[in-house]
Amino acid sequence: MSIEIDILNGDAAWPIAEPLHQAVFGPHIVEKLPWGHVKWDNAHLRVLIETPEDGLVCHVGIYFRTISWNGRNVHVGGIGGVCTREDQRGRGYATMAIGAAVHTMRANEAVRFALLFCEPHNVAFYEARNWHAFTGEVYCEQPEGRIRFDHMAPFVFDIVRAPRQGTIDLCGLPW
Ligand SMILES: CC(C)(COP(=O)(O)OP(=O)(O)OC[C@H]1O[C@@H](n2cnc3c(N)ncnc32)[C@H](O)[C@@H]1OP(=O)(O)O)[C@@H](O)C(=O)NCCC(=O)NCCS
Repeated sequence: MSIEIDILNGDAAWPIAEPLHQAVFGPHIVEKLPWGHVKWDNAHLRVLIETPEDGLVCHVGIYFRTISWNGRNVHVGGIGGVCTREDQRGRGYATMAIGAAVHTMRANEAVRFALLFCEPHNVAFYEARNWHAFTGEVYCEQPEGRIRFDHMAPFVFDIVRAPRQGTIDLCGLPW
């Protein structure tokens, strides 16, 4: 079976990603979750995995941002909107798409580490893929102002070297 992996501009690829994104993260699904009301940033790039038989089967959003860690500016890569079509899970698609996203971040020399936020039930998934818990505090912007972002668990990946503790300010919306 052939699969195609594309990394496309985030806004341009949104129409392709939207049906899958809505099926997994649509308002009817997330509205009752603790993070259902959070306003998220839009992905700058999107990893899309498609098969000839099933079309889009997996999506990962990529973000680039200068954040602050302990008051120092650091350029990071973000990962968000990780989703695989329900009937296509367990085939390695998300692992492949996250790998492609990390590869893309490595190509950007300014990126020191990667950062994502996940729900408790996905912690083991990311730990098995070499992501590490960031145990410090995270702040971000929301329409009402700057808030502590503790709705999900922050995980980091060493591109150069990721901090495990301290205070991160996302300096914008979360992803
Ligand atoms: C999490 C998710 C993206 C995984 O996608 P996927 O394409 O099935 O992932 P892969 O096939 O690459 O990896 C599946 C492997 O991870 C394991 N796995 C999947 N979810 C897991 C979890 N929550 N905790 C631990 N392991 C998990 C599977 O058992 C499988 O293990 P194996 O490779 O040893 O057989 C998918 O289940 C999904 O879309 N979930 C709903 C949306 C979501 O929670 N996204 C994450 C937001 S941070």
